[in-house]
Amino acid sequence: MIHQTLKPFPKDFLWGASTSAYQVEGASLEDGKGPSFQDTKELPPGTADLTVSVDHYHRYKEDIALMAEMGFKAYRFSISWSRVLPEGIGKVNPKGIEFYNNLIDECLKYDIEPIITMFHFDMPAALEEKGSWSNAESSEWFKEFAQVLFENYGDRVKYWLTINEQNMMTLVGQLIGTLRVPEATTNLTKEIYQQNHHQLVAQAKAMQLCHEMLPQAKIGPAPNIALAYPNGNRPEDIIAEQNANAIRNWLYLDMAVYGRYNNLVWAYLEAKDATPTFAPGDAEVLKAAKPDFIAFNYYTSFTVEASDGSEQIDDKFADQQSAMSEPGYYRSVQNQNLKKTEFGWEIDPVGFRATMRALYDRYQLPLLVTENGIGAYDELTADGKVHDPYRIVYLREHIAQIQKAISDGVEMLGYNPWSAIDLISTHEGIKKRYGFIYVDRDEFDLKTLKRYRKDSFYWYKKVIATNGQDLSDQF
Ligand code: BG6
Repeated sequence: MIHQTLKPFPKDFLWGASTSAYQVEGASLEDGKGPSFQDTKELPPGTADLTVSVDHYHRYKEDIALMAEMGFKAYRFSISWSRVLPEGIGKVNPKGIEFYNNLIDECLKYDIEPIITMFHFDMPAALEEKGSWSNAESSEWFKEFAQVLFENYGDRVKYWLTINEQNMMTLVGQLIGTLRVPEATTNLTKEIYQQNHHQLVAQAKAMQLCHEMLPQAKIGPAPNIALAYPNGNRPEDIIAEQNANAIRNWLYLDMAVYGRYNNLVWAYLEAKDATPTFAPGDAEVLKAAKPDFIAFNYYTSFTVEASDGSEQIDDKFADQQSAMSEPGYYRSVQNQNLKKTEFGWEIDPVGFRATMRALYDRYQLPLLVTENGIGAYDELTADGKVHDPYRIVYLREHIAQIQKAISDGVEMLGYNPWSAIDLISTHEGIKKRYGFIYVDRDEFDLKTLKRYRKDSFYWYKKVIATNGQDLSDQF
């Protein structure tokens, strides 16, 4: 579809950017915070730990001021569960509550809309010991946490996200360090999809509670959605593409929106003797809960071809965006039409438009982009500059596709790329940088932690100031 005239971005479009608690805050055991899974997990060799991260906990005022300088209308951040409830349930930590009160108020001071992720890969360690998401009680723990958040912050926060990238925890969580599986597990697929089921129920309970307690607020899921393409037009590849979309994408949203398991995924789980056990009441809760919008993270598309299950598929290096295959269902292949980032992720802005169109076509709910961006080896020059033209190109091409999707009739609420400020990557350390704001630290040397504005900072400021109309190179 070629539009002669593109529709403008809505005037209240939520331009901003994202972070997550454990990746930016630091202060990992300060002011009463309990340890989380991120503090106890084994780190990938050669990567920074999370004790200081980029010290957002102590420098949030300076960081929010920089976001305000860029003209942010929104800031998406997550709340560390174990900062607020050190044991995960029970006793509330007043200092933790206070920190997020201050952070929210600081955003509001500049008319920046706080968008809160309730869970971003950081289960409290105390709940890990009780089995984490394997435990059928986990949905009740999450509901208790949700209640604390709604009670304390619901007077000011209008946008809530339930669980960040639940699909990535399920599909590659063990590889990227976001999910732990009990040692005694015999049927790995069953174990992982049972954890996934508990998360789906937890999400449904939180959505229902939000609507009961905060009728003016809006809440939605936040998976990582990458539309799967077939590699060519062999009919078998179309079947593989449908399998991939169901397993990677639609499972999570079909449940959030329609309260039912996707039939292709259910058949896949049956074949692996891995269908999840429903506790009494789960089916009703899942059916009753409804999101107000769909938040999603998009980095690239995903190309697959048929797999007959007999070939060896080596997925040891898989992560959120690379080399994800399911023998017998689909095999991921490189898309020869696409370039890659320095970290091997394909770059596909048109796939972003295709993903938005597919999402809206399927669910007819407004969409909020909660991550998108390029991880790169940025360099701080001697005169305190960071020239990151590759980031400007990446963002420009993706933002242009949002406008095309809007012109296609897709309802878009906002754009919050990854990340507002440099932070520690899930499994590749601080050397893989995403931010508009550079932080002076290395993997193991904290240096000054001083903040610097990258070129992309000035460019994004201009984009926001023109409500997405001027995407040119000048800044
Ligand atoms: C998403 C996560 O998977 O992508 C973020 O929600 C993460 O936490 C981001 O940092 C980029 O991935 P990575 O692995 O490069 O840090």
